[in-house]
Amino acid sequence: MELNSIQNNAKSYGVPIIRTESHKILEKFTAEKQPLHILEIGMAVGFSGITMLSACNGDLVTIEHNKDYIRQAKTNFKNFGLSKRVKILQGDCHIEIVKLLYSGNYDNYFDLIFLDGPKAQYNLLLDGLLQLLKHDGVFIADNVLFRGYVDGTTKAPTRRYKTIIKRLSEFIDNCKNHEELKDFKLIDTEDGIIFARKK
Ligand SMILES: C[S@@+](CC[C@H](N)C(=O)[O-])C[C@H]1O[C@@H](n2cnc3c(N)ncnc32)[C@H](O)[C@@H]1O
Repeated sequence: MELNSIQNNAKSYGVPIIRTESHKILEKFTAEKQPLHILEIGMAVGFSGITMLSACNGDLVTIEHNKDYIRQAKTNFKNFGLSKRVKILQGDCHIEIVKLLYSGNYDNYFDLIFLDGPKAQYNLLLDGLLQLLKHDGVFIADNVLFRGYVDGTTKAPTRRYKTIIKRLSEFIDNCKNHEELKDFKLIDTEDGIIFARKK
């Protein structure tokens, strides 16, 4: 099976997946860094998960609350022969992250955390995620410029995006100034991706 077919299918059915530039960056980065343990928030149908796992030999814990997406993702991981390297946590990411924290098995565990879930809640998730990230581990967050509305490159068409724009803007500042993060970088591709490392 080709990764392209998952991408085309996702487009046809309106499943949100990482855009082309983010995909290339994520694939290149994972191939270079070879993370052993990856955590993803927002799996959808497994496109980014398959991208990362195909580029390294590590394993993936991934969180998703949409049951239809999970069903499709399971088939997709299976078709790529990756099922054994993936643990899917079905549920709300706030709760699943708390469960990971309370299990006591994942403190400072992940080499890479890819945040691609509910955009307006990135800030609320940050501190919990950093607890799960190893020292020197890499934190990546996608879509932080939200169609260019956050940095004003594109003017938001309606006021309905006001809250998400404000929250993403606060999230960017928080990552930039966070006492547990270093090497902050905001890549200004299509939708904006943050890279940072844990101190
Ligand atoms: C942008 S999509 C993820 C795309 C995926 N990373 C990829 O590129 O293939 C965001 C996903 O987060 C999921 N999501 C949104 N809010 C969530 C929540 N509170 N808990 C768990 N999953 C959530 C959505 O159902 C959606 O599948």
